[in-house]
Amino acid sequence: MTKIAVIGGGQIGEALTGGLIASGFDGQDIVVTNRRAERREEFEETYKVKTTDNNQEAVKGADVVFVCVKPYAIVDMFAEINDSLAKNAVVVSMAAAITLDKLEGAVGPQVSVVRSMPNTPMLVRNGMNIVVPGKNVTSEQLDTVKELLSTVGKVLEVTEDKMDVAAALAGSGPAYYFLVTEALIDAGVNLGLTREQASELANSTAAGAGQLLVESEQNASSLRYGVSSPGGTTVAALRELEESGIRGAFYRAIDKCVERTRSMN
Ligand SMILES: NC(=O)c1ccc[n+]([C@@H]2O[C@H](COP(=O)([O-])OP(=O)(O)OC[C@H]3O[C@@H](n4cnc5c(N)ncnc54)[C@H](OP(=O)(O)O)[C@@H]3O)[C@@H](O)[C@H]2O)c1
Repeated sequence: MTKIAVIGGGQIGEALTGGLIASGFDGQDIVVTNRRAERREEFEETYKVKTTDNNQEAVKGADVVFVCVKPYAIVDMFAEINDSLAKNAVVVSMAAAITLDKLEGAVGPQVSVVRSMPNTPMLVRNGMNIVVPGKNVTSEQLDTVKELLSTVGKVLEVTEDKMDVAAALAGSGPAYYFLVTEALIDAGVNLGLTREQASELANSTAAGAGQLLVESEQNASSLRYGVSSPGGTTVAALRELEESGIRGAFYRAIDKCVERTRSMN
């Protein structure tokens, strides 16, 4: 059985641990680290995994090490665990913005590193994980990492030159959909719906539209055409959105997101 270490038991570390356990992984094959003792107890009770506050101990014997600490701490964490890694271990960074070059520079020249970018729907096992394999990663290691990440959603491999843009779409993407949903709720309340009614309508519509996008064989444009009767109500609303510059706003938003990511490197 694959031995797994999860370094940093925060939101992302917990989502991953929960997904692995729900997919049938044995908690005794997973070690989670965290500095706060009460957090470690929560993991032990909820997921029946092993825990420790010693990152070096945790990675000893692990085949795959997921590092789920904040971006500012990730390079130091790679350096901290480097000497304790098993010979064929693969280390996966879940941190936004930090390049493979920096991650690989923090560990030995032979160490296999994967850069990954999750998103928060991973918390409900419906995430989108982007992965970029480093130079030492074997196809077998990459398959293992993809298989483990697929317990919490979909996995897309890209080359690193595409990572920042992919992350701007999927990593930050849930926030855009949440903002659109909030705006719809406020618009409904403005016209007399209760906030509860408007929330149920907007939230369920977001979930249903998302599922349709993924499951239907049609693309987003043709699904939109399907609800846009000539001269009808939906096209009247869409025209207002287009005239308000929604499409341009998304182009500019993604530009800004990528620009900000690159300024962090
Ligand atoms: N949340 C998102 O939407 C999202 C999306 C994409 C990517 N990510 C990436 O995922 C990573 C984790 O994010 P998150 O939201 O899960 O952060 P988080 O909730 O703050 O989790 C980080 C965890 O690491 C623990 N930690 C910090 N230093 C540690 C150390 N030296 N040893 C052991 N544990 C340590 C922290 O707890 P203690 O301080 O108690 O140890 C905390 O539980 C980040 O790099 C972020 O860029 C997050």
